[in-house]
Amino acid sequence: MARSDDGQVVRLEDYRPTDFLIEHVEMRFELFEGEALVETVSTLRRREGTDPARPLVLDGDALDFVSATLDGREIEAGRLEASPDRLTIHLPEATPAQSVRLAVRTRLRPEENTQLMGLYRSNGVWCTQCEAEGFRRITYFLDRPDVLATYRVRVEADRRAAPILLSNGNPVEAGVTDNGRHFTVWDDPFPKPSYLFALVAGDLDHIEEPFRTQSGREVRLAIYTEKGLSDRAGYAMDALRRSMVWDERRFGREYDLDVFNIVAVGDFNMGAMENKGLNVFNHKYVLLDPDTATDADYQGVETVIAHEYFHNWTGNRITCRDWFQLCLKEGLTVFRDQEFTSDERSRPVKRIASVHTLKSHQFPEDQGPLQHPVRPTRYREINNFYTATVYEKGAELVRMIATILGETRFRAGMDLYFERHDGDAATIEDFVRCFEEAGETDLSQFSRWYAQAGTPTLEIRESFEDGRLTLDLAQTLVPGSAGTGTAPLVIPIRFGLVDGSGRDMQAVPEAGSADVEGDVILLTEARASVVFANLPERPLVSVLRGFSAPVTLSYPQAEADRLALARLDPDPFGRWRALTDLVGERLRDAAKAGGAAGATAVDPAIVETLVRSAEDERLEPALRAQMMQLPGEAEIARLIGRDVDPERVHAVREAVLREIARVGAERLARVEATLGGDAAFSPDAANAGRRALRNALLLPLSLADASPARAARRFTEADNMTDRLAALTILAHVFPESAEADAAVDGFFRRFEGDALVMDKWFLLLATVPRPETLERVEALARHPLFRLANPNRARALIGGFATGNQRAFNRADGAGYRWVAEQLRRLDPVNPQTAARLATAFRSWRAFEPTRQAHARAALEDLAGASGLSRDLADIVARSLN
Ligand code: TRP
Ligand code: ZN
Repeated sequence: MARSDDGQVVRLEDYRPTDFLIEHVEMRFELFEGEALVETVSTLRRREGTDPARPLVLDGDALDFVSATLDGREIEAGRLEASPDRLTIHLPEATPAQSVRLAVRTRLRPEENTQLMGLYRSNGVWCTQCEAEGFRRITYFLDRPDVLATYRVRVEADRRAAPILLSNGNPVEAGVTDNGRHFTVWDDPFPKPSYLFALVAGDLDHIEEPFRTQSGREVRLAIYTEKGLSDRAGYAMDALRRSMVWDERRFGREYDLDVFNIVAVGDFNMGAMENKGLNVFNHKYVLLDPDTATDADYQGVETVIAHEYFHNWTGNRITCRDWFQLCLKEGLTVFRDQEFTSDERSRPVKRIASVHTLKSHQFPEDQGPLQHPVRPTRYREINNFYTATVYEKGAELVRMIATILGETRFRAGMDLYFERHDGDAATIEDFVRCFEEAGETDLSQFSRWYAQAGTPTLEIRESFEDGRLTLDLAQTLVPGSAGTGTAPLVIPIRFGLVDGSGRDMQAVPEAGSADVEGDVILLTEARASVVFANLPERPLVSVLRGFSAPVTLSYPQAEADRLALARLDPDPFGRWRALTDLVGERLRDAAKAGGAAGATAVDPAIVETLVRSAEDERLEPALRAQMMQLPGEAEIARLIGRDVDPERVHAVREAVLREIARVGAERLARVEATLGGDAAFSPDAANAGRRALRNALLLPLSLADASPARAARRFTEADNMTDRLAALTILAHVFPESAEADAAVDGFFRRFEGDALVMDKWFLLLATVPRPETLERVEALARHPLFRLANPNRARALIGGFATGNQRAFNRADGAGYRWVAEQLRRLDPVNPQTAARLATAFRSWRAFEPTRQAHARAALEDLAGASGLSRDLADIVARSLN
């Protein structure tokens, strides 16, 4: 059963080191059908200077206590108190000079663990998930990240049920015991916090490969999967090898154990987990082949493999002092995986994709009731703080430090961080100090970004006279944003002054201007001005290149200038930004209640620029596909901000899509012809980019045909999942009433019904048909024999797909969409509270809608809030959403 809510809040200012230190842990796991027995022997000492009268208080969560001994002797009843969530022992014999060995036994029921935290079974495979507070569901422990110990773990199980027995570190011993059982002992010499503990046991297939590090150390890399699926792990292995090479070259970081193991499991609460030497993955981020996975899936696997691998240094060798410091490892590791993809693929394409993610996930979070600073100062449930703000905005803060310091000084700061804090549980202050020292820069004002929630607005006004360009800059924060108050932030603004032929002009700031260094203006005041003199012509002002700060830009630049930048800014990101902001603003204005809707939503020059972007052969195909993409309905709603009518948003966006099709069909068909068909499928960036553009063209071309025939043909002829799913989406979403759509949806199901990952795509596709009636369809799909609420991927596909990917149906005017989702959350909460809470964040923008919808959303949330026995996870999200 899920722990229910006690309303307790954890505060950053209450941080205090533990009274006891655990230096070494020896564990024994005996795995049986139906139960697991665990013995944990901790070597512990009292910390210098603490009160010897204070007892040892170990964390537990729903534990079944069996016994405890101290240095091999029974502990008298009066000195020990055990409950499912705590073990208290009076320990006068443990002193700073004298360590003791505490042995504790617990009994677990992994088969009944549907929360997927602690030790559980997924399709028969025993596996663990300990971050953030799952270790306490395995044994009583000081389950917090600043308690670092070495571990030696013996895993024993039946040889047939679990021929493979894995844990952290290096294997040091193996053998058989009686009754067909066997064991393996693993030793991890690197002190680690308990959240990085892992164990996996089962009948698994694997692939393996040797790797030699730059200093010549030999490492065995292996990826384990369920039986029969290891032939889909090859690309993940390739991504792992490339990640290891990249981290050596780019950051000088080498791997440190003799083995690196990855295991893919089908039931997993998130993407993956960086356990030391034994990463455990949602199989979605390991298993691929062209027939079942899209280019986006390949990209996702590459990113997540790299991310978890990079944690070995940023997270594991240097970990977090407490969970408030989560961005210390997550923001930094996201920054590192973004850089990896930029170097491996295309920097502008990756940057556009990252900014898209930031705007579609982090901005709405930062602008709604779930807003919090990158480093929060309080939480009720830490699982709810693995957010876009901590991860994505956290990465943006690291990126800004890199922008402010420049490449060389940034690298020096990273080197100092690795050198100084290796083996530590560190804080954000420790991290920032390294850049201050190595970069010889005062970052105290910059540090406010970590404490200040909300998306700042950057206002820019320009004027030009006598060869002088003046940029007036101002920054503002929405009043009431949680954080430090209204003190100004440090905003780096990367810019260029572009001449009429698309070249960057010399830009020399006049004395008295705000701080300008190279191509970066550093705004540190609430307002400031920069003047550039001696310009031979009026420049096109390209700002926020590379999205150099996570801000909302308010810059009423002339439409002609913005369109000109969209066509000829020498910085490809600048082209995209100019166009996407312009299109977003026009869609926003058209969709605002009372605005002019329909085909007049955007003027012909904008449509022309969109079509021309697709034609522009100076841009790589992937970028052309990104340029053509209109902001989604949720993004348009966010830009409107209040009183949103999602039907209007949908209608306006549709009208523009149809206008692009009407105006551009012939030209877009010619673009398609230049791309040609593909040779044999290859997942590399160039081929994926061509497929992305071809598939982006399929929508306007199908709209122009007013027929599903083109998509039906693409669907039938497709020899890979990328093309097949793109075609199927158009059939099901644009021509849902056609015989072609029915045939394709059924055919797809029959062909792939045995494949869990493809069935997730099928459920998601049907949940996102942009029509109000989709609600009735998902109600039926929740009773489909292949729907399993307890499988997070499946629940996310259907419920999450509907709630976050279907603006029209979720936000139905009659409130039925909200009620259905709330009902699913109530069903899911006792099974898997972490996943229920995550899905509940779909309500985060409810106040942006018009009053009728708002009232329905509020009622659904209040209903949930009033339900009895809600988990702490879900109760926390619901309560904050209503705040
Ligand atoms: N640390 C993991 C990552 O970023 C994510 C994570 C946190 C996680 N909590 C989890 C994964 C719970 C699975 C389950 O890579
Ligand atoms: Zn991470």
